[in-house]
Parts: sequence; structure tokens; C-alpha cells
Amino acid sequence: MEFQIESTPISNVVADWLVTVAAKDRPLTSLLAGLDEALGGTISRLVESEDLNGETGKLLSLPDVPGLAASRLLLVGIGTDDADAGAFAKAMQTAARACSEKKSGTTVAFAVDAGLALSVVEQTRITALAMTVGGMGQDLYRSEPGRFPLAHLSVMASAASQAAELEEAAHVGVVLGEAMNLTRELVNRPADDIHPETFAARAEQVAADVGLAVQVLGQAELETERMGSMLAVARGSDRPPRLVVLRYRGGADDGPVLGLCGKGVTFDSGGLSLKTSDGMKAMKCDMAGAATVLGAMSAIAQLRLPVNVNGYLGLVENMVSGRSYKLGDVLTARNGVTIEVHNTDAEGRLVLADVLSYAADDGVAKLVDLATLTGSCVVALGDDVVGAFGNDDDWAECMLAAAATAGEDMWRMPMFDHFSEQLKSDVSDIKNVGTRSGGSITAAKFLERFVGDVPWVHLDIAGPAFAASNKPHREGGASGCMVRTLVELARNFS
Ligand code: BES
Ligand code: MN
Ligand code: ZN
Repeated sequence: MEFQIESTPISNVVADWLVTVAAKDRPLTSLLAGLDEALGGTISRLVESEDLNGETGKLLSLPDVPGLAASRLLLVGIGTDDADAGAFAKAMQTAARACSEKKSGTTVAFAVDAGLALSVVEQTRITALAMTVGGMGQDLYRSEPGRFPLAHLSVMASAASQAAELEEAAHVGVVLGEAMNLTRELVNRPADDIHPETFAARAEQVAADVGLAVQVLGQAELETERMGSMLAVARGSDRPPRLVVLRYRGGADDGPVLGLCGKGVTFDSGGLSLKTSDGMKAMKCDMAGAATVLGAMSAIAQLRLPVNVNGYLGLVENMVSGRSYKLGDVLTARNGVTIEVHNTDAEGRLVLADVLSYAADDGVAKLVDLATLTGSCVVALGDDVVGAFGNDDDWAECMLAAAATAGEDMWRMPMFDHFSEQLKSDVSDIKNVGTRSGGSITAAKFLERFVGDVPWVHLDIAGPAFAASNKPHREGGASGCMVRTLVELARNFS
């Protein structure tokens, strides 16, 4: 999406949609009051009749308004004047989904409102992001798409002095939105399109586009690295595994490196511990962790953040065949820990075990991993909240603060040592599953064995990464969650 900052009078701007806000406590903003006068009180009457009530996310679209060059006026309810970033984002995402439903209506002019508690800079960044994300749907394979990407956004601001600041805000919003769309696209594509080789090829292409160094390890290299845990998961598939390493250097040569690891199970059938059809239906989403790391790395590079960041994508397919790894198998992970397999559907932790140990040995100062790891985390926190687990309170606090700033919901989970007892095995160092209770925590305690003494946070995104159905403010399918949080975390890392 292209964008520009304009100071043309609102009534003269040519666009398919002229978007501005209405609040419950102030339905007639100064902009609307002016229009109301020109229109002989039409808008006041809409307020009286309660057609315009300013409720968060409520839209009122008025076509062919006399005196307006724009084709439609879209009034977006934001609740109250002091709406916070979260409420404003929800409202703008709802508006973006409405604006992108017509092939013939892909240019938007957004009039900032200086009367809100939220700064016009924030309004601009959030709106640019919302218009970028809201214009992309999950109907990638429909011959007649139901959603059309928005082509152009004009931000209408009267104070010319602010143009540079608003320009930067819109740029950040679009970069973040496009990064989320990259993540969403990869997750939304079925497993036959996106498997370890094609995912790695796509990562190489992104790296070339945005200027990241990239290295792809194949079967032979993974064997040399003795990644026995990840390789066992890959064995049942005809698709060979890949480990993609991305490197961005925006900080000092000898500065600390942030490591981001992603679970990239391009399809999770459950292996011999086969899932039910219902449980398997959405398992093309099981590489969302890796796709999130790729999206975040691309944004970090495009925004030229002054930090050093490495991304590690562990890509495998968990399938059933005569070569599948079996229950009772004992695997030797890269760091020498032996693992007894009690459930081949607990494969994500087996992949991450080797990826985390590789990253820890690669010299990163701090580690994060993202994974659609457990159904148990969804039971604990619901569909929309990310679970955060870690071995270091300060680093976990940094993560929670980044999520709060980015406006994404995250909740810290406990890491009491007694959860590790569930992982004791009679034949090897550990086994790969515990009991049903506290399943997301035992999974995190398993991962903890592979990070050494590097401060680490594990994010279980099994709930928020992928949604079964649409909501007014977001499309069903992949969400692109945590891209913004990771970029914020990197921004604070410098
Ligand atoms: N990929 C799944 C977790 C998942 C569930 C992601 C729902 C997204 C939505 C993971 O590999 C898995 O199968 N976990 C098992 C672990 C169990 C066998 C200990 C689970 O959660 O049931
Ligand atoms: Mn699984
Ligand atoms: Zn999985």
C-alpha cells in the first residue's frame, strides 16, 4: 500500500473512502461539525436518530455526500474521546475490512482527529497498519476474491509542521502491516504449498529483498550438527527438513545478539500418535512460530533498527510412514540429552530442542522462541492470549512490556521446578510428554533443558496464531500475532 501525507482541505480530497472517527461523547468532531453545517444538519440528525452513535467499531457509510469530492464518507466509532491504542486499532481494523470489500474502492483518505487523547502520530501509525492488514484476506485461492488490498492511503493533516512525523509513522505502520501479512500468507497457505523446502526458498527470497544474511541447513548439515531430535520428527515425511538461519546486523559489531527461534512444523499430522480429523484440520498453521520470526526479521531489517538479531526457523513435516519415528524410540538431541518418545504428537518441543541448542551455541545473548506448541495453553488462556514462559524474570518482564506497548495480549505462566518431575523417564534423561495437567508448562520445562544459561522466553501462540472464523475487526485464519511485539522487543534491545 502506498501512502502520502496531505494538507488538502478535507472536502477536496479525491478518494473512494474518506474515513474519520466519531466518539460516543463527541459524535460531532470539529471536522464533522463543519460538514454538518455544509450539509444543512444531516449529520446532527444522524446523531439524533442514533444512526451515528460512536460505539467502538460501529461503522456508518454515507455515499455521495454533497460537497465532498470523496465517493463515500465512512464514520468509524471509537467509543470515547480517550480511546486507547487498542480500542482505536480495533475500530480501524473494522473500517479497513469494510473498505477492502470492493474491487473499485481501494483508495482511502484518513482524516486525523487532533481532539482525541491518542496522538495524531499514533492514529496515523495504527491506521496505516490496520489498512495494510485489513486489506488482505485468507481467500488466497478463490477465483473471485472477497477482499481487495487497499492501494493507497492519504493521511489528511492540517498542520503541515507534522508532515515528517506523520510520514514516519505511516511508514512504520505499513512496514509492520506488510510483515504481518507475510506471516499470515505463509501460515494461510496449505502444507502442500509451504513445506520445509518452499518455506526455506521463500525465506531466502525475503532475505534478499530486505538485506538479511541467510544460511539454509539441509539434511546432511543437520546430521553433521547431530540434531537427532529434530531429524527424528522429519523422518516420517517425504519432505526433507531445513534449518534456516537469518542474520541482521544493525548494531555494533561486537554488540549483543538477540536470537529468535520459531517452530516450523509445516504440517502436524501427529505422526503415529495420529490426530483426529478435527484436530488435524488446521495443522497447516503449525509453522506459525517460524513464519512470525521471518515476518519480524523482515520488519526489523526494513526499519533499520540499531540492533543485532538472528532468526532460526526449524522446518519439518510431522507425518506417518514406514519411516516415522516411533513411541519408545530414544533420541539423542544436539546437546547430548536423551529423550524417550511417549507421544509423536509432542513434536514441536523435539524440533525446538535442537534449534534452541543451536542458537544458544551460536552466541546469542538473549533468546526467544515462538511455537504453536500446546492445546493445553489454549485451554488455560483462551484463543486470544499468548502464554509466556521463561527462565529469567528480567527478560520475561522485557517481553511482557513489549507486548503491552504493541497492544498484544500476553500472560506470564509459572515455571515451578516440580513440573519437570513429570518428564522423568526410566530409560533416558527425559521423556517428551508429562500428564495432561499443566501441559503447556511441562512443555516449557522440556524446552528449558536446551537453552543452557541463556536468558530465554518461550511464547506459546497455539491460540492466537490462527482463528477458526472471522470477527468484525479481523479475518479468520492466520493473525500475524507477535510480529509487532517482536519488533518492539528488538527496538528496546538496543
Ligand atoms: N501443534 C500442536 C499444538 C496445537 C494445538 C497448535 C492446537 C495449535 C492448535 C502440538 O504439536 C501438539 O500436538 N501438542 C499436543 C501435545 C500433547 C501430545 C502432549 C497437544 O497439545 O495436544
Ligand atoms: Mn503435535
Ligand atoms: Zn505441532
